Amino acid sequence: MTGIARPTMINAFDPSAADDLNPETAHAIHRRNSVLGPGYRLFYERPVEFVRGAGAHLFAPDGTDYLDAYNNVQSVGHAHPRVAAAVYEQLQLLNVHTRYLQETLVRYAEDLLSTFPPPLARASFTCTGSEANDLAFRIAKHETGHEGVVVTRTAYHGITDRVSSFSPSLGPRSPLGPNVRIIDAPDALRAALLGVTDLGGEMRRRVCEAIEDLRRHGYGLAAFYADAVFSSDGVYTDPAGFLAPVADEVRAAGGLYVADEVQAGFGRTGEQWWGFQRHGFAPDMVTIGKPMGNGMPIAGLVLREGLGDKFGADMRYFNTFGGNAVSIAAAQAVLNIIREEGLMEQARRVGDRLRAGLGTILASSPHVAEIRGAGQFTGVDLVTDRGTLQPDVDLAARVVNDLSERKVLISATGVGNVLKIRPPLAFNDDDADRFLETFDGLRAVLGA
Ligand SMILES: Cc1ncc(COP(=O)(O)O)c(C=O)c1O
Repeated sequence: MTGIARPTMINAFDPSAADDLNPETAHAIHRRNSVLGPGYRLFYERPVEFVRGAGAHLFAPDGTDYLDAYNNVQSVGHAHPRVAAAVYEQLQLLNVHTRYLQETLVRYAEDLLSTFPPPLARASFTCTGSEANDLAFRIAKHETGHEGVVVTRTAYHGITDRVSSFSPSLGPRSPLGPNVRIIDAPDALRAALLGVTDLGGEMRRRVCEAIEDLRRHGYGLAAFYADAVFSSDGVYTDPAGFLAPVADEVRAAGGLYVADEVQAGFGRTGEQWWGFQRHGFAPDMVTIGKPMGNGMPIAGLVLREGLGDKFGADMRYFNTFGGNAVSIAAAQAVLNIIREEGLMEQARRVGDRLRAGLGTILASSPHVAEIRGAGQFTGVDLVTDRGTLQPDVDLAARVVNDLSERKVLISATGVGNVLKIRPPLAFNDDDADRFLETFDGLRAVLGA
């Protein structure tokens, strides 16, 4: 089988179109493709190259300034000088693993845990979000004695063999495990078309059905995983509270609730540190990553007190680079900057402004079903018809690529029809003005 399986990545550049680009770009793509391993994808119909970043801006080799409304990893801003200094200073001192006593490691764990509500009280460090989700699964399996996993329809949790087996967003050719059950994501808009008024109750019913099926097939439930803002499913944040009944159901079945905060966490939702907090419950485990080191490879798993004791007694945990001194220095700088520069509050304020501005521009568009989100996570749901809510994937691709041509970076999610606007938290009022002015230029495309 050849070609790219859809929908694996809606905003992927099609490598067969390389020769249609200018000769230098085509040459750069051919060189890249001749040395990189399989599965890499570039963004946009016309791939872009960057050599420098600052705040929410990325700069091309010729100096062109792109507004970054997509990258959540460099959350406190591209090339933030305080992160760079913290990394440089620590690199010159020491960069060993976690098998020696180190004050900075423990101090950071204490500081990180102070952002979580009880009973979340322990932190393990990894290099990637995938590793964190993988470790969460091993612990869930060991502690519950079960193997079943429930996830949402277009969820993404990572790249290891195990975690990819419960990441359906990798596409129809990426195998799911026999122990995996899929439920529909909490799409309140389309659920309402079917008469659903209580989204929490409906989610509980879906999870209950999946758990029952896992039981019938002899797997039982080890864990339910959900990204607290459903970033790969289409950005579903409201009505806040709909995840609490799911957590009750999961626990009643003897399973563990894993909140994947790799995208939602570190203040992105603008009100509190963690996306699950909007829903008024505490998960059993929380996986974190991406913005944690502003681009340095650090991620982690946070567990409730007591959970994992059996795992820890029966086996050891060591991750060569996970939690090394330099990554910890970067992560500590990120926590300090979020607090000292008021970035959570900025995410709430500027994110609200952005959604309000988009609402004004798009009010008359027959293709916009909903503008939703929290803090600096916004989804714009594009449809062919507001009555049937049929997703309009082609329109989303057009908007994403048109914006890129206008030097503004976003992407699309869900089945590909939801514009995904997820800038660094450093995205400020001036950036929002530029974003909205540029977006205003797309009125004709969107029929607004
Ligand atoms: C929600 C979610 N979980 C887990 C991961 C995996 O993280 P990583 O790429 O650091 O392995 C990602 C990455 O995109 C993600 O978005």
